[in-house]
Amino acid sequence: MIDHRPALDASLALAVARAGDPQAAIYARLFARHPAMEAEFWRDTSGRIRGEMLARTFEMIGDLAAPHAPDGGWGAAFLGTEAVTHDAYGIARAVFADFLPIVASVVAQAGGDGFTPAMAAAWDLVLARAAAVLAALPGSSMAARVIDVDDVLPPPDQRGAFFPMR
Ligand code: HEM
Repeated sequence: MIDHRPALDASLALAVARAGDPQAAIYARLFARHPAMEAEFWRDTSGRIRGEMLARTFEMIGDLAAPHAPDGGWGAAFLGTEAVTHDAYGIARAVFADFLPIVASVVAQAGGDGFTPAMAAAWDLVLARAAAVLAALPGSSMAARVIDVDDVLPPPDQRGAFFPMR
């Protein structure tokens, strides 16, 4: 089985060498395609959440490009958990699924004529694996989940065992 990670890493190094940090271009393209999404980052006044999101995404992409275990490995599991976490942020699954293709297109564009067929194959694998992971997830109604703690926890005087730190 081909290990696509070297080509993937080379594509990132090429993109950075030619166009610098791709973060601004990636979020600009996300917000151009989905203008309502910019406001979702209302808590991110410093840019650190967007930076962390992208850093974790690159880490995940590297794992998705690896020859992987039958269970899909860490990258697939992380992508699935983040899709569910993002349900709670209010990010529709279709928008969530758009992020990796946007990252891929920014990297390919930055690479220009240096972007090789091997790099394209690595990204195609990543995008195909990510799409398969997301297609296999149970859907989400996106309905707000409001939990009344008194419905799910023992009576207040018996909660010591649940919250031993108190
Ligand atoms: C492959 C797709 C994605 C992955 C792996 C991913 C991953 C993450 C991670 C790890 C964080 C937490 C950062 C932190 O606080 O430390 C995060 C936060 C966030 N993500 Fe994503 N993300 C993805 C796509 C998207 C898309 C398409 C949107 C659309 C706008 C989005 C919106 C957000 C928002 C609004 C937050 C911050 C929530 C908050 O704490 O206020 N994400 N993401």
